[in-house]
Amino acid sequence: MTDSHLTLALPKGRVLAVALELLTRAGLPLSIPENSRQLRHFFEGVTVLELRNADVPVYVDLGVADLGVVGKDVLMEAERKVYEPLDLKFGVCRIALIREKGATGPIRRVASKYPRIAVNYLEGKGITAEVIELGGNIELAALTGLADAVVDIVETGSTLRANNLEEIEVIAHSSARLIVNRASLKLKAERIRPLIRRLERIVNV
Ligand code: PRP
Repeated sequence: MTDSHLTLALPKGRVLAVALELLTRAGLPLSIPENSRQLRHFFEGVTVLELRNADVPVYVDLGVADLGVVGKDVLMEAERKVYEPLDLKFGVCRIALIREKGATGPIRRVASKYPRIAVNYLEGKGITAEVIELGGNIELAALTGLADAVVDIVETGSTLRANNLEEIEVIAHSSARLIVNRASLKLKAERIRPLIRRLERIVNV
């Protein structure tokens, strides 16, 4: 592999296809057959690693991947030291504090798939509450009494409407971001900087 070989960390699932299409339009022709069980994909001058969402910032921070695409929500939770040069403007959603409609009691316990975001938010608000980490269908915690509120993603709002829940406060807005390893940005600048510029032109139309 040459010094300018690029390794990309991309999340499997919904984001993968959109990220591949964007990168292809930006001059890296990448195509991965649907339903491929291969986890690493080799192209001329580029390797793509197909990862779990939350692992993308880890691979980029530790330098195994030069670049990655990941949601701002996951990036905030990961607290990794990576460059975030570009908002790719897809996968738009918000992270919110959610409660059952009409709930008025004190918030003593909060459930989330994003415990760090939840802790930082509650600290900022001066709310003393226990944060418990759950793996999915977080809204159920608020409905069953496991927690007094949850911190979770709202995209269309359908889950809230279908479950008699309401957004109390938007904590942050999220969308897919391009992230870059800090050393790679310097060492592979001649490949990475033009790629960022091309992506920028595509997403900022
Ligand atoms: C996410 C999130 C909400 C839902 C919000 O769940 O946790 O439950 O999407 O989207 P909506 O506002 O369009 O209804 P996802 O299906 O990604 O999986 P999870 O519940 O396992 O986290």
